[in-house]
Amino acid sequence: MASFTSTPKFLSIFGALIVCLSPYITPSLADSFDKEVDFIWGPENSKMDDTGTQLSLSLNTISGSAFQSKDAYLFGRIDMQIKLVQGNSAGTVSTYYIASPGGPNHDEVDFEFLGNISGEPYILHTNLFAHGTGDREQQFYLWFDPTADFHNYTFLWNPRHIAFLVDDIPIRDFKNHEDKGLFFPDSQPMNVYCSIWDGDGWATRGGLVKTNWTQSPFTVHYQNFNPQACVSQKGSLVCYLPEGSDYYTWFGQMLAETDLEKMKWVRENYMVYDYCTDVKRFPKGVPPECLLG
Ligand SMILES: *[C@@H]1O[C@H](CO)[C@@H](O)[C@H](O)[C@H]1NC(C)=O
Ligand SMILES: *[C@@H]1O[C@H](CO)[C@@H](O)[C@H](O)[C@H]1NC(C)=O
Ligand SMILES: *[C@@H]1O[C@H](CO)[C@@H](O)[C@H](O)[C@H]1NC(C)=O
Repeated sequence: MASFTSTPKFLSIFGALIVCLSPYITPSLADSFDKEVDFIWGPENSKMDDTGTQLSLSLNTISGSAFQSKDAYLFGRIDMQIKLVQGNSAGTVSTYYIASPGGPNHDEVDFEFLGNISGEPYILHTNLFAHGTGDREQQFYLWFDPTADFHNYTFLWNPRHIAFLVDDIPIRDFKNHEDKGLFFPDSQPMNVYCSIWDGDGWATRGGLVKTNWTQSPFTVHYQNFNPQACVSQKGSLVCYLPEGSDYYTWFGQMLAETDLEKMKWVRENYMVYDYCTDVKRFPKGVPPECLLG
């Protein structure tokens, strides 16, 4: 990984950004959890292996658990490999999200995995808060068993859009429509969070299926946290990239035609819920971004 320096062109495109120009010496932003995260809830239910590449979080009758990245990012391609709770995971919610500090104007982008009884499908629940406003839920079934192996879940976040990717397939794309007066998360650095908690009032079949505590602890595994991101440091932004890569590979990138086709396939075949089509919920009209695409 190497840092990049911004160009005047870059600054004129994204005038609001302050980009630190000094090259950064650390060759890698983070290639292991131990350098990069803090346990913030239920540390007794959190485990890291000796090399810092694998981490697990558990939920039992006493507590769930969570970790948070030490760094806060402003834009990045932020991947996490996750293997979800096996067997009967009904009622449990495993999460991977990015969020700015709380408060009425906070930004947040969520992957939440809603468990199920053995053999029944998880739901991948997504949401996005911009300047404090959320209510942008979209839900998906997955096209694989997310408990059998690790899969990649990615936020591709740049000044133009935020795409949610699963094994590199975009499932959702939220575009920046600030030119039309809508908020977009591009001014507040966000930390990465992962957690597991008991959500049985809501998670599985809308709360009908409760957590079966005889199956506890419920454990979710994370590995290879390795963000390519801009880090907010003392008010400026330092961006890191894999050696030899061009920062436009993610920084200015929109989804390619082939990605859009894959996204269409997912949304036609695996989408369970879309706030943009929930006219009952929004009797006065769905939120404006739904009409802008
Ligand atoms: C996840 O990403 C890693 C690193 O790019 C890759 O080696 C692995 O095959 C990916 N896994 C899946 C299931 O796509
Ligand atoms: C759990 O399985 C049921 C039955 O197949 C399904 O309706 C539901 O969407 C699944 N997922 C969740 C999280 O409830
Ligand atoms: C909970 O799991 C136990 C052990 O597998 C099973 O015997 C019991 O029937 C389950 N309870 C419910 C409510 O499904």
